Amino acid sequence: MSALGRSPAKMRLSTAINGPGHDGVIPKARMQPEAGPDVKVLVIGAGNINFGSDEGPWNHSQRIEQKLGNRLKVVGLVDPAIPRAQAVLDAKRLTFASSAYADTPIYRTVQEAISKLSASPPDLVLLGSPPAFRGTTDPSKGFNTEIQLAEGFPKAALFVEKPVSTGSVEEASKVAEYLEGKPNLVSVGYMLRYSAAVQKMKQILKENKLAVMMTSARYVMAYEHSAKVAWWTKSIDCGPIVEQATHFCDLSRYFAGEVDLSTVLAHSVEWYEKPGRLTKIPFDEDNLVPEDDRIPRFTSATWKYKSGAIGHLEHGVALQGTEFSTEITVFADGYQLKLIDPYNRPTLYVRRPGSDVEEVHHFNDDDPFLSEMSTFIDTAAKGTSEIPVLSSFADAVRTYELTWAIRWASEKTRTPK
Ligand SMILES: NC(=O)c1ccc[n+]([C@@H]2O[C@H](COP(=O)([O-])OP(=O)(O)OC[C@H]3O[C@@H](n4cnc5c(N)ncnc54)[C@H](O)[C@@H]3O)[C@@H](O)[C@H]2O)c1
Repeated sequence: MSALGRSPAKMRLSTAINGPGHDGVIPKARMQPEAGPDVKVLVIGAGNINFGSDEGPWNHSQRIEQKLGNRLKVVGLVDPAIPRAQAVLDAKRLTFASSAYADTPIYRTVQEAISKLSASPPDLVLLGSPPAFRGTTDPSKGFNTEIQLAEGFPKAALFVEKPVSTGSVEEASKVAEYLEGKPNLVSVGYMLRYSAAVQKMKQILKENKLAVMMTSARYVMAYEHSAKVAWWTKSIDCGPIVEQATHFCDLSRYFAGEVDLSTVLAHSVEWYEKPGRLTKIPFDEDNLVPEDDRIPRFTSATWKYKSGAIGHLEHGVALQGTEFSTEITVFADGYQLKLIDPYNRPTLYVRRPGSDVEEVHHFNDDDPFLSEMSTFIDTAAKGTSEIPVLSSFADAVRTYELTWAIRWASEKTRTPK
């Protein structure tokens, strides 16, 4: 997706969050790297989340370069796809950040990286491999990655991408429990929590002591250029609620608290129903994805929060072009906080008691990925940060659980083929 309306490489270095009406609820992520010792980083996964793509603004290596400057030393890149890893390192060596990658070895597995780096362990680990290769305690296939990392590098801070797993919620919960008992700082990549607009909404709720009555989230993706077969295959990426709408399920929980999972109801439009026929899928779904493994085209879910509030999510695989259509609204007595387009041009419309006219807040140059990484790095180095780490592994497991509850609920009610 062309999130932020520009490619990651062209994103402005400023993270000013002072759009009209904005009063700076989170500090600017520091743009000038602070002086200090080298910071050793192990990067796991040479894919889009860590090294960027045309699909969106995510690119963790770029954010750590911005944050750490020439203190950054990437002490290893783990990826079984060696040519891909080599290609991203070659590209980095042509950039201003080349010194960080000058001596970066490639490792095929996390085990190999741990054995080679045990004498000089990394300070930070970015875990951005696909979730099928992590999020379990089962050592049999070597995918008990978080456990291996916590054992191998007991002092390293771990940054783990969402979703936390593709396996069972029970297994992911065991990983959470294990990590809670370890000294490693763990931060999970629900970056929208760090968005200035989201923080502004949280501030309004807190300042006015509001009880959330309802959250209403809509995430409609543009599928025309989405060509990863795994994403369209439920048995690999688990479907679009678990893989993608997870960000909005997480935000809903962030605003309104825990969901009573027994209340989750959902309906879907499936691929075999007339309204679910898509004309621009960019690969041969008919031949590449088995029928019972194809993803729903639209899902609508509702639930009750434990607080008594209600929640609603709509997720669609429906738009063409490149930009996604996304919004989330939070209602409370007298208040409507409507956040439109948090990925591209976040705009917050606030209606308050005393006036029917909405205030409009823009957050033009906000970069939640940078705020997230800045928080992670500062907390790892100093034990504290201007904003705290906002997503723990255990918290992320509860979002994972909600997304599965929605998927199961929609499969229970779907119209059979
Ligand atoms: N927060 C966000 O907005 C956001 C955006 C994109 C992706 N993600 C998440 O990041 C994760 C990775 O997604 P991606 O888009 O980078 O995928 P990708 O397919 O582009 O890259 C994944 C890379 O990991 C490698 N890999 C496979 N198994 C591995 C293993 N065992 N150890 C190390 N590397 C391994 C693959 O060879 C590949 O190079 C997913 O969990 C995804 O949901 C999050």
